[in-house]
Amino acid sequence: MAKETLTVRDDRTGKEYVIPIELGSIRATDLAQIKTGPDDGGLVSYDPAFMNTAACKSKVTFIDGDRGILHYRGYPIEELAEKSTYLETAYLIVKGELPTTSHLAMWRHNITMHTMVHENLKRFMQGFRYDAHPMGMLVGTVGALSTFYPDARDVMDLESRRMQTRRLIGKIPTIAAFAYRHSRGLPYVYPDNDLSYTGNFLSMLFRMTELKYRPDPVLEHALEVLFILHADHEQNCSTTAARVVGSALADPYSVVAAAAAALSGPRHGGANEEVVHMLREIGSMNNIPALIKQVKAGERRLMGFGHRVYKNYDPRAKIIKEVAYQVFEVTGRSPLIDIALELEKIALDDEYFVKRKLYPNVDFYSGIIYDAMGFPVEMFPVLFAIPRTSGWMAQWAEMVLDEEQRIARPRQVYIGRDLRSYPPLDARRDVGAQETEVRGPL
Ligand code: ACO
Repeated sequence: MAKETLTVRDDRTGKEYVIPIELGSIRATDLAQIKTGPDDGGLVSYDPAFMNTAACKSKVTFIDGDRGILHYRGYPIEELAEKSTYLETAYLIVKGELPTTSHLAMWRHNITMHTMVHENLKRFMQGFRYDAHPMGMLVGTVGALSTFYPDARDVMDLESRRMQTRRLIGKIPTIAAFAYRHSRGLPYVYPDNDLSYTGNFLSMLFRMTELKYRPDPVLEHALEVLFILHADHEQNCSTTAARVVGSALADPYSVVAAAAAALSGPRHGGANEEVVHMLREIGSMNNIPALIKQVKAGERRLMGFGHRVYKNYDPRAKIIKEVAYQVFEVTGRSPLIDIALELEKIALDDEYFVKRKLYPNVDFYSGIIYDAMGFPVEMFPVLFAIPRTSGWMAQWAEMVLDEEQRIARPRQVYIGRDLRSYPPLDARRDVGAQETEVRGPL
């Protein structure tokens, strides 16, 4: 049998090193022994944006990007989207196994018990400006939750971790819905625990004067599927943010706020918002070729296309595309879908996209569905953050219990100035505004 080692020869010194390979990886710290002399700190691996660095071992989510495969705890996403509910999937993600009937009932009870928020938190949210971005409100409010639950700081305590997980999964739809109502100038709607997780969310969003809100079953189901598809996605930008912040043993509310902040960026969860802006800007089929030309000239990106991991069709995009048609049966066909379909067709045939393996990602169609359901685009990243909370919590708890983990602290390759002495103020040269290299990036 082949040896599970890597032999490295340092041409600077002629020395050879034998580095163990474990689970298809070498330990970056094993490179530190490769030195030119006693003053050399040792070799580091340079990997901006973690292009080829595994920062943890995880049991939560498996992705094979080349084959377009996504599993949660071993179960294919297609099967979960068809047969499961969001709350059941959240249980699977957080606990590691599918629940039995009694465990599912208990879990549902434990989550719904925490859907209410403290009245002070409501008042906190009322303090945001009338035009505050709902994602900014969500990030700020989830962060503020840590001030309501000081017991959350005890991150090494199992019962505390469980309690904060239930609270976060229970309260995040309420906070999200309050953010939406705030931006519309509408009174906040309290949770209705007779409804399903997504049915209650729709009620808190859209209920007006009716005594009992009855969610449309097709839209309720569509949201369940979308929530299942968004529940986790292994070590993406926001999950990495969660793990890094959590590694300092910050409380889980601060962890989820940090993760949500990462998610708000247009290269991550903000992309579905950008997709709808882009499709609206295109406006008609005639304008598609001009956009494709701009993209190929490197002037802009085709939002909702491309993925760091999937170099084949994103399996979530396939499922979402089907859900879109179910939603249109209720809401009417969105004019954006025809532009999206044409754009996809052209892009999938075009050498620029084929060569770079750029396929539609989860955000390409989710935005169109949310738009058809009546959500303003600012709500899209919020709709992503709700289900991803279970994934963040599972990944955070896994990190907290991982004995190999310590505070996250990457190395750097220093390329700045050599040592120099401090000049008095009047001896300093005036730097012109154009000399950005001297001034730096800010
Ligand atoms: N449109 C046009 N060209 C693209 C796109 C795109 N959407 N995405 C990547 N490319 C090109 C790049 O210009 C680059 O071309 P080059 O080799 O000629 O320079 C090549 O494809 C590789 O791109 P990278 O930026 O190196 O790929 P990376 O893995 O770093 O980026 C990302 C992945 C951020 C998702 C990128 O594809 C992108 O910006 N997509 C649009 C935004 C988007 O949809 N984000 C949502 C991602 S899914 C999610 O977060 C839930």
